[in-house]
Amino acid sequence: MKATTINLTRDKENNRIEMIDFYNEATEDYEVWSSDFNMHFGYFIPFKTNVFKRDTMLNEMNNQVIKRLNITKDNKALADLGCGMGGTMRYALKKNKNLAAFGVTLSEFQTKKGNELLKGYNGTILKENYNNTSFSTNTFDAAIAIESFCHSGHSKTSIKEAYRVLKPKGKLVIADAFLKKQPSQLCYGSHYAYNKLCNHWSLKKLETIENIIEKLKHQGFAEIKIENASFRVAPSVLHVPFTIISFVLKQLVNTKSLKRESLHNLKGSFYALLSGLHMKSFGYYIISATK
Ligand SMILES: C[S@@+](CC[C@H](N)C(=O)[O-])C[C@H]1O[C@@H](n2cnc3c(N)ncnc32)[C@H](O)[C@@H]1O
Repeated sequence: MKATTINLTRDKENNRIEMIDFYNEATEDYEVWSSDFNMHFGYFIPFKTNVFKRDTMLNEMNNQVIKRLNITKDNKALADLGCGMGGTMRYALKKNKNLAAFGVTLSEFQTKKGNELLKGYNGTILKENYNNTSFSTNTFDAAIAIESFCHSGHSKTSIKEAYRVLKPKGKLVIADAFLKKQPSQLCYGSHYAYNKLCNHWSLKKLETIENIIEKLKHQGFAEIKIENASFRVAPSVLHVPFTIISFVLKQLVNTKSLKRESLHNLKGSFYALLSGLHMKSFGYYIISATK
C-alpha cells in the first residue's frame, strides 16, 4: 500500500498540468462534447431527454440546477462560480428574462470566448478566483457551482466565499462528484482511478459527501438538501469513450497531432468513466443550500 501511494504521488507530480493552462488550451475541445459548450455531465430523464443526443442531457443538467434556485421575477442576480464558457448562464438567461448573471473563471480563454457567446444576454464573465471574488457581500440571490469547486477540493474557502456573496435567504446549488468514503478507505481500483482523475483534470481532491455537508453547516448554510443523481448522470458518462474516439480521429485527420492538454483532458474523461464505475466509492450529487 505504501509503495502504491509513493508511485501515485510521483505520478501526480509528473502528470499535473496547471489548471489555468489546462482550460486555456483544452476548452476548445469541449465543442466536441457539447455544441452549447456545456462543460459538465448530463441529467437523463426518460422520454424528456434523448440518451443518444448528449446536449439534451447536458442542458437538462442546467435545467435541474437552475430549477433548484427557485428564481422568481424578483430574484435578479445569479453568480456562476467556475462558469466555463457560460453555458449554464446562457441557459438561465434564456429562461429568465429578468435575470442578470455574473460568472467567474480563471481562464483567459474562457473569459474572452465566453463573453463573446454571451453577447446579447444580460451576462458577464470575469476572470476571477471563486475563492476570493471582487463581489460585494450580500450581492446575489442565487449561486451555482457545477463541477467547478472540485478544482479547489470543495474547500471551506470556496463555500465561505459563496456564502459571503449570497444575500440572506439566497440559494447555492452545487452539482459535482463526491467520494462516498474517505480516500484511505478506497479499494485499489477506486484509489487508482481517483488519483488519475485528479491529476488529469487538475482537481485538488473530491470531498466526501459527509464532509461537504459538515462544511456547509459549519459555514451557516441551512435547508441543506443532498440528492444522489448518479443514475441520472450515468448515461452521459457512458458517452465518454465514443467522444474520445471521435475527438482523436478528428484531430489526427485535421492536424495529425494532439496537444498535451487535450491528451490530459481525454485521459481525465476516461478516468471519470472508470471512477463512475466504482459506484460504492463515487457518486454524483446535486446539493442545495440556503444562506
Ligand atoms: C469543468 S469546468 C465547468 C464549467 C461550468 N460550470 C460548466 O458546467 O460548463 C470547471 C470550471 O471551473 C473553473 N475554475 C476552477 N477553479 C477556479 C477558481 N479557483 N476560480 C474560478 N474558476 C475556477 C475553471 O476555469 C472552469 O471554468
